[in-house]
Amino acid sequence: MPTLTDAESAGAIREHHAELRDALRERVAALRHAVQAGRPHEPAQRAVLTFLDTELLPHAAAEERSIYPAGDRGLTAMLVQAMLTEHKNLIAHVAGLRDSAEAIEAVGSASAIQALFESHLSKENDLLLPALIADPSVSLGALLGGMHEILG
Ligand SMILES: [Fe+2]
Ligand SMILES: [Fe+2]
Repeated sequence: MPTLTDAESAGAIREHHAELRDALRERVAALRHAVQAGRPHEPAQRAVLTFLDTELLPHAAAEERSIYPAGDRGLTAMLVQAMLTEHKNLIAHVAGLRDSAEAIEAVGSASAIQALFESHLSKENDLLLPALIADPSVSLGALLGGMHEILG
């Protein structure tokens, strides 16, 4: 696979972010609807957790090996530090969801993960990516090397 340009890489990342956001929204809504309808919430809770464990957290880990180190200097260093803390918060909330035995607790926890993830995504799309694209010493395509966890 040829190395993607900065613009192609940023486009693929944003598109993958939108897919992750929509997939999470869908699963959190299914959990909420199960609880509202008085159905057992466990299958929907497990579906949210499976998505988080197999898609969302691997995405965050892949970023920590690629674009975050590239942004962890100069003007974007504090942004990246804050975003690393958000990854830790996400991981802690996922553990909280795993431990949620009550339906209402599971819905609250899943909704918090969704809100946290969506505000995190906008920092990546609107602050970090433009800064990395503007940095002539960074090649997003080379950095990502086809990482499917980030490019989709
Ligand atoms: Fe991230
Ligand atoms: Fe991301």
